[in-house]
This record gives sequence, structure tokens and C-alpha cells, in this order.
Amino acid sequence: MSDSSLNTVADDSSDPRSTAGLAAGRSTTAAALDAADPLAHVRERFLLPDGVIYLDGNSLGALPAGVPEALRDAVHRQWGTDLIRSWNANDWWGAPARIGDRIGALIGAAPGRVVCGDSTSIQIFNAIAGALRLRPGRGVVLADPDSFPTDLYLADSIAGLLGAEVRRVPVGEAAEVLRADGDSIAVIAYNHVDYRSGELRDLPGLTAAAHAAGALALWDLCHSAGAFPIDLDAHDVDLAVGCGYKYLSGGPGAPAFVYVAERHIAAFEPALTGWHGHANPFGMEAGYTPAPGIERARIGTPPLLSMLALEAALDAYDGVSMAEVRAKGLALTDLFIACVGDLGLETLTPIEHARRGSQVAVRHPEAHAVMAALIDRGVIGDVRPPDVLRFGFNPLYIGHADVVEAARVLGDILETGAYKEARYAVRSTVT
Ligand SMILES: Cc1ncc(COP(=O)(O)O)c(C=O)c1O
Repeated sequence: MSDSSLNTVADDSSDPRSTAGLAAGRSTTAAALDAADPLAHVRERFLLPDGVIYLDGNSLGALPAGVPEALRDAVHRQWGTDLIRSWNANDWWGAPARIGDRIGALIGAAPGRVVCGDSTSIQIFNAIAGALRLRPGRGVVLADPDSFPTDLYLADSIAGLLGAEVRRVPVGEAAEVLRADGDSIAVIAYNHVDYRSGELRDLPGLTAAAHAAGALALWDLCHSAGAFPIDLDAHDVDLAVGCGYKYLSGGPGAPAFVYVAERHIAAFEPALTGWHGHANPFGMEAGYTPAPGIERARIGTPPLLSMLALEAALDAYDGVSMAEVRAKGLALTDLFIACVGDLGLETLTPIEHARRGSQVAVRHPEAHAVMAALIDRGVIGDVRPPDVLRFGFNPLYIGHADVVEAARVLGDILETGAYKEARYAVRSTVT
């Protein structure tokens, strides 16, 4: 670089309206926010590779520092040495309820209302069946046509089995449909945060609208559990499900969870009645009697290694205030929205805090190629059809400087056209 170009850069950055000036201003803001960040120390609880800015924790959370040792212990001592005695000696039997309670503390559920296990897909199936049985005589499930697809597939399947009907109603129209047609609706089953746009739905308002119509509210918390406070008990939510591998950082394929409001537990009848949900599992009875408490939502033998990894991952939340997690998540996403605005890109994510989760969706016609180029430069996000670049911000391990740097790399890729290189046109199986 010549002396004169150095001068040009210096001159540019002193003009706040220039690209370099905007970037310099954003960097100064980020440094101040990082210096005042009460959660900055929590980043040390995660093992992140050097040279990577990880903005995909809304899809697979980063590795918490305590997990490798917890897994080593689970494999060598618990499985290898204690063998089957571990069910009692290491309380493997109690893991689903024990871990459920720890997740419950993060989502506003008192102990005894959450159980951990199986996949979100299975929990959705069971929860919709349970909801339909809690509202006999009402045969309609309201679901968002833009929901994460597995929710719709499972709703259609269980509705078919139980002779119910799934009505696909966009979330923005749900309150009106509940007012007009509420008598037939058993349950509304919506995603708390839209997986594509990052829009946060009005959980308290829609839950109240469902109740006013005599229906139940089932929320899929996949993109909110661990990302901000939810207050399920306080908002009278009936049922909720969520996954363990996104913001909770429980690892690939980590078990999911289900929440059942205390008032429904005694009557909650899941579709999948496995022996771990039985009142007397070691009585080996021929007929099914559900356990009296939330344990009735258990199914079969849980994947213990994954369970114990998730349990260790939850240590990352020790002493962490979910209100601070929310405040930081909004600051991170505010900053990223401003940075991509500087680049002239369109965001799908709502600007209003009350309608935003902890991710930002940016549109670009060459989203796949742009993301491939970003990942090549160590900025990891993902892509959803048709043209959405998704960036997730887990406040436990992302800092404000990461946000500005990620946006700088994005700007560079777009400005230089680097994403047009032929190698970025090759699409991977998983996007
Ligand atoms: C809203 C939502 N529900 C469910 C799932 C996935 O369910 P499962 O863990 O069973 O694959 C996802 C995955 O991204 C999701 O975003």
C-alpha cells in the first residue's frame, strides 16, 4: 500500500459518512460495549477455535468447556467402571427430570414441569397428541404455514392418526381466527421465534387469545430456549417443546425437552407411552399406567452420553442472569443490523426489540455463495431458502467486536465479488 492510499484511508475514517468512517465508528462502539459487558467472562466457558467468529449457535451451539471432561467421566468411569450400576450410583435414572429442571430454570418453569429427552420432533408429536386429548370435542390444530417444517409434518401426522385437522394460519392471523372460530380449536402450535427471519412472536398475547377461546397454547422454543428469558409459568403457557443443541449448546443431537403446565400434568396423555413414563417401570406390568408427575412425558431409555453432555453444557449458565443475556442479545443484533444497513443490505429481522429473537436474517440473491465465502474466511453462519443468510448471536460467547468484524468480512466479500469464485457455487448437503 502506498503512502497516499494510507492517507486516503486515514482521511476516510475521519469522515463518519464514508464506509471506513462508519466502520471505525462501529468499532469504537463495539469496544465500549465489550468493555462494559457483564457477560464477557462467560466466553471462557466455551472452547472456540482461533480465527472463527461463530454465528451459528442458533443451529448448533459451540462446545462448552466442561463437556469434554464430563463425557470422559461418563464414558470411562460411569459406563466403563460402574457399568449398569450407574443407573442408581450415578443417577442415570434421574437425568431426564434433573436436567429438565435445570432447563426449566432458564425458561421460567418451576421444578417438576420439564423433562428432557428424545428429539424435538418426537416431543412435538407427543405434545400435540396430549393437547388434542386435553381438549376432547375440539379437532383443530392451528399451525403456521411458515413454521419449521418438522412441526407441520408431525402435526399432520398426529392429526391424521387422531382424526383431527391442521389449519395453517399465519401467526399474524391467529388471534383473529381464535376469536372467530375458537370453539373448534384444540391447540395453537407456533414457533416462538421464526427460524428463518428471527421474528419473536407474541407468546403472552397469543397464549391469552388461545385461552379466551378455550384452546391451549403449545410453543416450540427451539430458537428461544437459552437465548432470553421466557417465563412459561408466568404467561400460563400450556405446553412447550425445545431442543438442546442450539442456544443451550448441548452438542450435536442433544436431547430435547417438553414442558407441561402443572395444571395439565395429571391429565396429560402423550401418544408415545414408553416404559420410562410408567408409574412403576420396574414392576414390568403388562398395562400402561402413567407416572403421576412430569415423568409421564418420558418415553424409553434416553441417550445418556448426550444427556450428560447437555447437563455439563448447562453449567455455562451458572450465575448468569437471563435478563443480561437478553440485553446483550439485543445489543449484538442491534449492532449487526446497523452494520449490514451500512452495507446497503436488506434484513428480514424486525427492528423492534419486542419482535426480535437473537438472530439476524439478511437477504442476498447469492446467499449460498456469500455464506460459503464467509465460512471460508472464518465467519460461520448458515443459509435458508430462498435467499436468507442467517446469523445467530449467542450472548454467552459472542462479543460486539465479533459482530463488527463479521460485518467487515461480509462487506469485503460483497465489495470484491469474492463470492463469485466458482468454488463457492458448489452447494453442500447441509446448508
Ligand atoms: C423450530 C424448530 N423446531 C424443530 C427443529 C428440529 O427438530 P429436531 O431436533 O427433531 O430435528 C428445529 C431445527 O432447526 C427448529 O428450528
